[in-house]
Amino acid sequence: MRIAMIGTGYVGLVSGACFAEIGHDVICVDKDAGKIERLKQNIMPIYEPGLAELVERNVEAGRIAFTTDLAEGVAGVDAVFIAVGTPSRKSDGHADLSYVYAATREIAAAATGQLVVVTKSTVPVGTGDEVERILTEARPDIRFMVTSNPEFLREGAAIGDFMKPDRVVIGTEEDDARAVMAGIYEPIEKDGSPIVYTARRTSELIKYAANAFLSIKITFINEIADLCEAVGGDVRDVSRGIGLDSRIGSRFLNAGPGYGGSCFPKDTLALLKTAEDFQSPIRVVDVVVQVNETRKRAMGRKVLKALGDDPRGKTVAVLGLTFKPNTDDMREAPSLSIIQALQDSGVKIRAHDPEGMEHARGLLPGVELVDGPYEAVEGADALAIVTEWDLYRGLDLPRIASLMAKPLLFDMRNIYSGEEAEAAGFTYVAIGRKTTAKG
Ligand code: UDX
Repeated sequence: MRIAMIGTGYVGLVSGACFAEIGHDVICVDKDAGKIERLKQNIMPIYEPGLAELVERNVEAGRIAFTTDLAEGVAGVDAVFIAVGTPSRKSDGHADLSYVYAATREIAAAATGQLVVVTKSTVPVGTGDEVERILTEARPDIRFMVTSNPEFLREGAAIGDFMKPDRVVIGTEEDDARAVMAGIYEPIEKDGSPIVYTARRTSELIKYAANAFLSIKITFINEIADLCEAVGGDVRDVSRGIGLDSRIGSRFLNAGPGYGGSCFPKDTLALLKTAEDFQSPIRVVDVVVQVNETRKRAMGRKVLKALGDDPRGKTVAVLGLTFKPNTDDMREAPSLSIIQALQDSGVKIRAHDPEGMEHARGLLPGVELVDGPYEAVEGADALAIVTEWDLYRGLDLPRIASLMAKPLLFDMRNIYSGEEAEAAGFTYVAIGRKTTAKG
C-alpha cells in the first residue's frame, strides 16, 4: 500500500517508520523544513530506542521518504494519515484541532482521487465528522472515506507497541475504507494482534477511554500508597495482591510521584471537556486530574519537610527529569512541579538525566545540571530519584551516601529496598512503604 503520513512527531514518525518496516511505501510530510532535512540525514527529532536504525534501514530499502511538500506526498496514495499534534488549548483544556483541520484543508486541495483519510492524532468525538465536512465541501468531486485509527504506543517502547499492539482500533462505517485499512494492518494482524472494527465516533472515544482508565488506575494506586504510608502497609504487595486478579491486571499499578507525559494529562482534560459539552460528566476522571496535579507538588513538599525547619540554602540532588525513562520528553514531568516546590522554598537543585538535559535546560531555570549521578549528589542534603532510568537502579549506594552532606534518599519510584538503603547508611523514604530511619 502507498501511505502518506502528515506530521513527524512521536506518533507520525514511529507509525510511518513501522508501516515502512512491514512493507508499505511511506512518505512522511512535515512543514518543519529543518526537521525534514535532518530526517533525511537520519537525525531523529526525538530520542526513542531503535528508531534511528529503523528509519535508516527503510530509507535504504526505498520504503520511506521525507518531504515538506504535502501535495507531492498525497498524490496517488491509498491512504493519508493525519498525525499532527492536538495539544491542550490554553484557554479551556479542549484539544486544539487547528493543526488537524489545516492539514485536512491541504489534503483536500492536494487529493488526486478516491482517498482514505485517517485520523491517527488523538481527536475528540466528532472530529472525523468535521474532517469529512471540510473535505467534501472543498472537493465534492472526490470520494473521501474518513476513518479513525487511534494510536496507543507508549514513548520509550514505541516500536514494540506499534509492531505488536494489544489491539488495533479502526473506526469507519464504509466497507471500502475497512478493506484499505485491513490491507495496511494485515502483517500486524497476522502476527497475532486483534483488530477492533467499530463506528468512527466509537473509535475516537476508545482512545480517550483507554488513557483515562489508565490514569485512574495509576491515581488509585497512588492514593492507596498514601494510605499504606499512614497504616504501615507496603503498596508493592498491594499492587501484586490485587494485580494477580485477572479482572484487575498487574500493569500500571506502580505507585509514584504522579503521571505526566504528552498524553494522559492532555487527554483526560480533553475528555472532561467533551463530557461537559455533551452534558454527560465523568466525575471520576475529574477527581483523578485534580488528585494527580496536587500530588506532584506534594512530593516536593514531602522532601521539604524532611529537610527540616529551614530548608533555604540546602541542596537537593534530583535524578531523573523526564516524565518516564527512555524518552527525552519533559512534558508535564513530575520533576517540574517537584523542583518548583523546592525552589520556591529557597532550595538549590542539582540534577541529572540521561536524555532529558537538553530540554530541561530551557524549562528549569536555576537548576544546576551535571554530567552524572555521582556529581549530582556531592554535598547534597537529600537525593530524590524522580524517574526510574536503568542507570539509577544500580547506584553504588554506600558511595552516594559518603558523598552527601546528609544521607537522605527519596525513592519516588520504589526501585531500592529499605534494607539495602539502610545498610548504606541512608534514611530511606519510598512511596507507600515504611520509612527507614538511619542507624
Ligand atoms: C500513554 C499511554 O500508555 C499510551 O497508550 C498512549 O498512546 C499515550 O499515553 P506514555 O505517555 O508514553 O503513553 O507513557 P506511559 O508509559 O503510559 O506513562 C505515563 C505516565 O504514567 C508516566 O509519567 C509514568 O511514569 C506514569 N506511570 C505509568 C506510573 O506512575 N505508574 C505506572 O504504573 C505506569
